[in-house]
Amino acid sequence: MSQSNPVPGNGDDASRGFWSSRLAFILAATGSAVGLGNIWKFPYVTGENGGGAFVIVYLICIAVIGVPIMMAEVFLGRNGRHNPITSMRLVAERNLKSPAWRVSAVVGMLAAFIILSFYSVIGGWSASYVEHALVGDFAGGTADSINAIFSDLLASPIQLLIWHTVFMALVVLVVSRGLKGGLERVATILMPTLLVLLLVAVGYAMTTGHFGEAVSFLFKPDFSALTFNAVLIALGHAFFTLSLGMAVMMAYGSYLRRDISIGRTAISVAFMDTAVALLAGLAIFPVVFSFGLEASAGPGLIFQTLPLAFGNIPMGWLFGTLFFILLLFAAWTSAISLLEPVVEWVEEKTSLARAGSTIVVGVLCWALGIASILSLNVWSDVTPLGMFERFEGKTIFDLLDFFTANVMLPLSGLLTALFVGWAVAKESLKLDLALDGTAFTLWYNAIRYVTPVAVLVVFAYNLLA
Ligand code: PHE
Repeated sequence: MSQSNPVPGNGDDASRGFWSSRLAFILAATGSAVGLGNIWKFPYVTGENGGGAFVIVYLICIAVIGVPIMMAEVFLGRNGRHNPITSMRLVAERNLKSPAWRVSAVVGMLAAFIILSFYSVIGGWSASYVEHALVGDFAGGTADSINAIFSDLLASPIQLLIWHTVFMALVVLVVSRGLKGGLERVATILMPTLLVLLLVAVGYAMTTGHFGEAVSFLFKPDFSALTFNAVLIALGHAFFTLSLGMAVMMAYGSYLRRDISIGRTAISVAFMDTAVALLAGLAIFPVVFSFGLEASAGPGLIFQTLPLAFGNIPMGWLFGTLFFILLLFAAWTSAISLLEPVVEWVEEKTSLARAGSTIVVGVLCWALGIASILSLNVWSDVTPLGMFERFEGKTIFDLLDFFTANVMLPLSGLLTALFVGWAVAKESLKLDLALDGTAFTLWYNAIRYVTPVAVLVVFAYNLLA
């Protein structure tokens, strides 16, 4: 197997750089993993699916499926040392396999681009909520007045566009500065800050007198509340929260030094991501319960339920502001990682430099985001696939979300697992992953059998059911 680099130009080792340390990679990858998925989605899906039992299934999915795929993606990026598509082609060629396997990265990158377009819209909501909290708009609010803040935001294309633009500009700013001056620098500042803010939020939640209730809600399993559908949701969420199936971990892995253990690193990232999701639950639910509100409020939990509580409890103004800053930081570092793979690709494939590539991709993605913005108001009746019963009433935003989450991510994840598990030489995996005997066997079986089967089941169910 040749380790030489068959593609000259931008992608060669000297010019593209490395993360400065293992910690820098862990922080950046955790920054990607920790996002709206942890702080917005995890608490509400847990709330909707009965709490503790769902959490257990989710933890199993992270360990048995999430971590192995993350390791596979980081391996592909590091072994190829190029943008995800080129990396997969190079790894395929080195293993004398068809370069067509790179379709996995193509699907993943397309998904990353589409997801970023609407992730930025929701990132914009977080930014706008920092402002609302700061100026005291939640103070003394009633359910009606708080709901009105949210629905006014969604009803206004102009407000949404402004915040979407602000958010996307923040993302472009960082990515255009490259690996060390951009991605790494922001991750090493924001991630520790985020952790501190989260601990402060949990500390505050402990003072509400409803902490115990939240602990038992999150950790006391009631398996009778667990449905098959909840298991599928847990698996899908494990994928999303670890940023898998979007070529992100391949892109981040492409800057990882060869002497760093992929296994230990992936486990650290998964651990941090899980810790943040659970801590977010411990920060949110006591506040929700203290105001006698429902844990199963759905997507509105963070933007409606929580502000209502913050508006009516002591020091709610301060902690509300801190909380939405935390949400914004989490969304920001994730969005950065969604832009990176596509920018890396444009940078290597065209004559554009880093800044130019970032601006081109950022502007295109921003423009696509406008479709999601309009779906929330002006185009709320536009349902392009409405003639099919299954997509009735689904707006463009809903469709983008549906196809990325239910088709593209599982497809990309499945192909990645099959490629690494069945097409890449075992010796090369052993060499690169540097796991001890048992750990390697566990991982290898997971990636060859467990992961593909599990992903296929979810895939089939979501498409057919
Ligand atoms: N993992 C992020 C979250 O939990 C979402 C994300 C997915 C970010 C893919 C980057 C890439 O919110």
